[in-house]
Amino acid sequence: MIDEIAAISDDAPARIADATTLAELRAVEAELTGRKGSLTLLKRGLGALGADDRRAAGAALNAAIGTVEAAIAARRDALERADLADVVARERLDLGEVPTTPRRGTVHLVTQTWDRLVDVFVGMGFVVAEGPEVETDWYNFEALNIPSGHPARGMWDTFYVDLGEPETVLLRTHTSPVQIRVMTDQAPPIYAVMPGRVYRRDTADASHMPVFHQIEGLVVDRGISFADLAGTLEAFTSAYFGGSIHSRLRPSYFPFTEPSAEYDINCVFCEGTGCRTCQHTGWLELGGCGMVHPTVLRNVGLDPEEWSGFAFGFGLDRLALMRHGVDDIRELYTGDVRFLEQFPS
Ligand code: PHE
Repeated sequence: MIDEIAAISDDAPARIADATTLAELRAVEAELTGRKGSLTLLKRGLGALGADDRRAAGAALNAAIGTVEAAIAARRDALERADLADVVARERLDLGEVPTTPRRGTVHLVTQTWDRLVDVFVGMGFVVAEGPEVETDWYNFEALNIPSGHPARGMWDTFYVDLGEPETVLLRTHTSPVQIRVMTDQAPPIYAVMPGRVYRRDTADASHMPVFHQIEGLVVDRGISFADLAGTLEAFTSAYFGGSIHSRLRPSYFPFTEPSAEYDINCVFCEGTGCRTCQHTGWLELGGCGMVHPTVLRNVGLDPEEWSGFAFGFGLDRLALMRHGVDDIRELYTGDVRFLEQFPS
């Protein structure tokens, strides 16, 4: 048995060294110390030997197995390292080689939309105003005729800021508080649009994000009627979407407008024939609008007998999606360049 052990351990180093891949090494390992390997089989033969021979052969065998296992481990280490070096060499990126025409970024689709909308409204004679994203309860709710405890508060899932008395400071849930700021800051006549970021406690899905954008509109002047609202929105619709898309107003409720309406446009996906995105209605809902409520005018010190006006608030992200035929708002916020670079500015 000692001779057999010696014979195997003599040529083991060469066989191990000859293995040039991890798979080959695994085969050699199986042949030597695997379940049916030559050294393993010898071990099983030990029981047939006399006590003295068994002790001597056992010791020699253990030593041989130890040496072989160590040699295999060392070889495996070397082969693995070579493999890694190979991968690194293959995936090497030459950062020294700067392309002669560097790739240029583009303005984000939301920003492009913001700019376009402002362009359209400025073209119609509006000015642009902005307000803070962290608001007080007064601007976001109270002044807009939404008293605390009023069920209408439930229309906006609010993020409150841990500042001052509980529920007095919040992330604005819409751009309507900017209406109050504009009316407080300047005397009518007012023709203003107010784009901005808004926040709601919503779970992200194809049509909702907890952070999104709106564009608010406000007109306050003498003798403003619902017809002015409808006409302005129809003019905006063809300016922004092109002549084949029209608007309609559907009765609705907002505490700060009376009467109130939802602003819909012809579905840009199916052009009115009915599809999944418009839920087979042929119309897409883009926001709310209405005649400024007399209580809101009084809240900012304006006499509703002298002044009247209209307001609207549209989902800016939704306008972007509809104009470009995209059906998932999350596309705007995942930052995937393959999506974004389809909208070169
Ligand atoms: N602020 C309303 C909303 O976010 C939209 C709206 C604005 C409705 C102005 C009427 C007038 O739901």
